[in-house]
Amino acid sequence: MSTKPDQNGLKAAAAKAAVAYVPDNAIIGVGTGSTVNFFIDELIKIRDRVKAAVSSSDASTARLKAGGIDVMALNDAGPIAVYVDGADEVTKHLAMIKGGGAALTREKVVAAASDKFVCVADQSKLVDILGKFPLPVEVIPMARSYVARELVKLGGHPEWRMREVDGQMRAVVTDNGNWILDVHGFSIVNPPLLETEINQIPGVVTNGIFARRCADVLLLATTDGVEKRTR
Ligand code: 5RP
Repeated sequence: MSTKPDQNGLKAAAAKAAVAYVPDNAIIGVGTGSTVNFFIDELIKIRDRVKAAVSSSDASTARLKAGGIDVMALNDAGPIAVYVDGADEVTKHLAMIKGGGAALTREKVVAAASDKFVCVADQSKLVDILGKFPLPVEVIPMARSYVARELVKLGGHPEWRMREVDGQMRAVVTDNGNWILDVHGFSIVNPPLLETEINQIPGVVTNGIFARRCADVLLLATTDGVEKRTR
C-alpha cells in the first residue's frame, strides 16, 4: 500500500534548506504562501543574524513582525542579497507560475530587485510545461472585462477570482487594491514570450509567469530528500 507524501513535511524541508542561502546581517526578500511560512519560521529562529526583511505581502509582513524581524520598505532597502519564495508550478529550467496567493506583483518586484532568487517547493510543483495551474493575472478593476477578452484571444479561459465572505461571493482584492483573473487552458511552451504578451495588455498590472526573472536555485523537497537544481 502506498502512502501519500507528507506535503507539509516536504514544504518545511525545502524551507529549512533555504537557510543556507541567508547571508549574515543581510536584508532578505521574503515571498508569500504556505511554503514561505515555514521559511519565515526558520528566519525567526536565526533573527539575530537577519538585518531586516523586505516582504512581498501583508500576510508575510505580519508573520515576520510577529516573529521579531524588522520589515523594510523596498524603497529604503537598496539591492537585496537573496529572495526566497514558493511556486505554484516550476519547470526544470526554473521558470514558474506564481500568484496562487494573489501576491504576484509584489513578488515579481522583490524578485527583480534581488541578486539571487531561491525557489522552495515540494515535488508536486515540478512540471514539464507550465499551465495546468490556472495562470493568475492581476488587473486594475476597471479593465477586468477588456483584459479578459484579450486573454481569450490568446487562447485562455479567464475566470474572475472570487471568495466567499459571510455567505456571499466577493472579488479577491490584492494588497495593491486590484483584482485577479485566473486563466485556464494555457499550455505555456514559451514562457518568456507569453509573459511579455500578457503584460502588454493595457490594464494588466502583471501576470504570474516568472520566466524573464526566473529562479536561480530550486530547492525541491522529495520523499528522497531536498534536491538542489540551478540554471
Ligand atoms: C503566492 C505565491 C506562492 O508562492 C505560491 O502560491 C505557492 O504557495 P504555497 O507555498 O502555499 O504552495 O505565488 O502569490
